[in-house]
Amino acid sequence: MEGQNANAHVLEYDPGVYYQGRYWNDYDYVAREMNRRISGDPDMPWTEHFRRTVGGRVFRKALILNCGNGWVERDLLQRGLIAEAVGVDYAEPLLQQARAAAGDLPLRYYRLDTNTAAFPESDYDLVVNFAAAHHITYIDRVFRKLAELLPEDSYFVNYDYVGPHRNQYSTKQWLAALALNARLPAHMRQVMRYPHLLTMKLTDPSEAVHSELVIPVMKRYFHILDHKHMGGALGYLLLTHNDQFWNAKPEEQAHWLKVIMDADADYLRRHPGSSMFDYILAQPDKRSLERTAQLEAWTREEESREAAARRNNGLYYRQTLYAVVFYRFMSAGSSIKRRLLRRNP
Ligand SMILES: C[S@@+](CC[C@H](N)C(=O)[O-])C[C@H]1O[C@@H](n2cnc3c(N)ncnc32)[C@H](O)[C@@H]1O
Repeated sequence: MEGQNANAHVLEYDPGVYYQGRYWNDYDYVAREMNRRISGDPDMPWTEHFRRTVGGRVFRKALILNCGNGWVERDLLQRGLIAEAVGVDYAEPLLQQARAAAGDLPLRYYRLDTNTAAFPESDYDLVVNFAAAHHITYIDRVFRKLAELLPEDSYFVNYDYVGPHRNQYSTKQWLAALALNARLPAHMRQVMRYPHLLTMKLTDPSEAVHSELVIPVMKRYFHILDHKHMGGALGYLLLTHNDQFWNAKPEEQAHWLKVIMDADADYLRRHPGSSMFDYILAQPDKRSLERTAQLEAWTREEESREAAARRNNGLYYRQTLYAVVFYRFMSAGSSIKRRLLRRNP
């Protein structure tokens, strides 16, 4: 059971949930600020920063984890950073889009469940995790497999959500976001709904399933060479899926984008552990694979964590204080409304 797809529920999602709506980095101002937080230069995207760090090396063959519609490997290829790539994903409709867009480019695609499958082909000198690892349930198993797969002088480059598990933000972060949102003009405010665990599980059970483990587990098997925080504790919450802000006048947008991103930078400075998006460059630590007793302990830990979650309706941790208070308040509010409606239909 454990070696198979013990957590099959993570594959029950509609790939239409991806590539929808407006994200904070769809604003040029935010994208440039994210570049600056990685490379120090708003005009230098992570790919160019990566190229500079690896001394202009062109990678022979890249493995692209959970590649979705394939735009990341097409971009890497077009920039001359890689000579060929293999993309893996579970969602057939996205793989079809990736294959169609690839045409004759040296890109190949395989459908598989990253949690359990062996990676296809061999001779990789680069693995790319772009918004992928936060969807991995068996994070220890997969990262260990990557450290085994990659030769010592190869690289693992990551650009991912590493914030709270299933977006269950801390009360401190959530209250700071509420306060900043309240400063915006009413017609630009975000509709602040604390992410509801059961709804998240229904729409995409793999979403941020172990985002909180991405960095600590990576450190078990990889040497970290470069690690940058892109933040997002406030900016992501206020700007993602906020149509009101998106539709506001450009001059209002420009003013409030600066206010929000300055506050985001200030929050990140005061709470460095709050970064929700990180860029990390790493190389495999082959010696970590020799510590047999430690590896067995990590496997047991992972299997018991997943077994406990299966017994607990797919839930891993106790609800955050804010979620308990907020959803109690909401359900009390709707039962009062129902009672009032019964009295005054
Ligand atoms: C946020 S999207 C990112 C896609 C792509 N990396 C990008 O940046 O556009 C997450 C991807 O993970 C894939 N995925 C989720 N669970 C998976 C699994 N168990 N095995 C393979 N792919 C999975 C989804 O189909 C989706 O394409």
